[in-house]
Amino acid sequence: MDIKKVAVIGGGTMGNGIAHVFALHGFDVYLTETSEALLDKAINTITSNLDRQVKKQNITEDQKNETLKRIIRTVGIEKIPVDVQLIIEAIYENKEAKLALFKKLEDRMNVNCIFASNTSSISITELSAVCRPDKFIGMHFMNPVPVMKLVEVIRAYSTSDETYNTIKELSYKLDKEPVEVFDYPGFISNRILMPMINEAVFALMEGVASKEAIDSVMKLGMAHPMGPLTLADFIGLDVCLAIMNVIFEGYNDSKYRPCPLLKKMVAANKLGRKTGEGFYKYS
Ligand code: CAA
Repeated sequence: MDIKKVAVIGGGTMGNGIAHVFALHGFDVYLTETSEALLDKAINTITSNLDRQVKKQNITEDQKNETLKRIIRTVGIEKIPVDVQLIIEAIYENKEAKLALFKKLEDRMNVNCIFASNTSSISITELSAVCRPDKFIGMHFMNPVPVMKLVEVIRAYSTSDETYNTIKELSYKLDKEPVEVFDYPGFISNRILMPMINEAVFALMEGVASKEAIDSVMKLGMAHPMGPLTLADFIGLDVCLAIMNVIFEGYNDSKYRPCPLLKKMVAANKLGRKTGEGFYKYS
């Protein structure tokens, strides 16, 4: 299928980044939120990220303006045209909310529309079962979406080869590298990343080293662009904890138990950058 028209549902960090990348690469994007105020916020973020790309001379001012023109403000899923060829769901990480959304979309959208979820850890197979299993897939982008090359393409139990191949080709058109992964808890990205972050929090809790020292070891010794505690603040500690819980419960293996300090910080609402404080303070 030649995809030209897409809808992105959710304009938060991931959703606005996904809309940005699709629009920049020539797709018409119905960016869907629940209110005008949330759309304003998403479009302001996209504009400032495009400005950053103009400043770095990665794109021209004209490309920026064309990109913004291709983003169609959409309040409510009822306003998404039924003939879009791909829907990417990027709402908050809550299984019941995602299941309810996909059930509604199933009743409304054309039968050949592909449904994708950007979930970071919820089972793609479980989501696919309430709508169109063969035309359902995980498209897991990384934050910041305009910068990171990876799209983890997750095949649900019944995802067809045709759906997979369409999404693989589409990812190349976005100038991304698709990587095929099967649906198991945490997929590959978070199955490996989150236990590393969790272990860094254990090391901090046990007093093995200071937070700065832990981050320095991984930055200077392993060439990671951010240390694990800085990265946890960037992702959001609540997101890290939720993903650890999915992996822990999914494998029922104590090696994935979330660190008590991570749980305590989430309980204290020290969620990282988004609340102004996590392992570090942000102004
Ligand atoms: N939009 C557009 N461009 C952006 C951007 C954004 N939001 N953020 C950064 N950039 C661009 C900058 O313009 C810059 O471009 P050039 O290379 O052309 O100069 C480049 O990215 C680097 O940015 P900076 O120089 O400002 O800062 P930096 O060198 O410190 O890099 C970073 C910032 C790209 C975020 C880098 O620190 C990094 O790669 N960190 C690790 C990010 C990571 O691990 N992401 C995955 C998180 S896990 C996840 O997303 C999945 C999940 O399910 C939880």
